[in-house]
Amino acid sequence: MRQNHINNKQYLRGELLEDNMYKDPMDQFFLWFKEAVSENAKDVNSMILATTSQELTPSLRVVLLKNISTLGFSFFTDYNSRKALEISENPKASLLFFWSELERQVRIEGKVKKLTPEESDEYFNERDYGSKIAALISQQSTRWLSRNELDDKFKLYFDKHKDEKIKRPVHWGGYILIPEKFEFWQGREHRLNDRIVYDLVDQKWQRYRIAP
Ligand SMILES: Cc1cc2nc3c(=O)[nH]c(=O)nc-3n(C[C@H](O)[C@H](O)[C@H](O)COP(=O)(O)O)c2cc1C
Repeated sequence: MRQNHINNKQYLRGELLEDNMYKDPMDQFFLWFKEAVSENAKDVNSMILATTSQELTPSLRVVLLKNISTLGFSFFTDYNSRKALEISENPKASLLFFWSELERQVRIEGKVKKLTPEESDEYFNERDYGSKIAALISQQSTRWLSRNELDDKFKLYFDKHKDEKIKRPVHWGGYILIPEKFEFWQGREHRLNDRIVYDLVDQKWQRYRIAP
């Protein structure tokens, strides 16, 4: 059945005008992120990460933003996962944030690098014991025989290492996406949305508006 009227919503929450925006897109992102936090936007630090395989097949998944620095956006994962394999083949990746409560979207493109082992250790050490064990056993994105096999392995390791300090397994750690392009999108009435792009050209950010 065709659903012609599935979303008739008008976007009326705000506007995005160059005069009110920072020259540096990281500052603009910080501002929007803070506003999303203060508006209790759902899953505020969830971002969709797009990577591409050698065969040019794109793949997407949600990961959690764990740190924003002036350099970029960090997340943590399994270094043998599908995303990690694709990043090793092609470090170019995209991130997408959608904060529906604010009618805002941010798209970010750039190159992904591994965090240093020390940076990964620091975050790993903050994780709760169960999450550490999960990282230890998970082998993300590989085939498993059954849920039971996973649960049994978890329980075995959970009990076995109970009184030990769990060290970060080498197959688990962080990445940072260093941005080269941003697009800030604010929904507007009649779909005449505001879209402001920042491109990094010769180490300088160039800003311009694009059509809705
Ligand atoms: C809300 C949410 C948060 C997630 N956060 C992470 C994360 O921070 N790191 C991660 O590796 N996977 C996270 N996942 C799981 C990923 O979406 C994905 O299933 C997993 O990383 C395997 O992806 P891959 O096979 O493409 O490598 C999250 C999923 C959801 C829905």
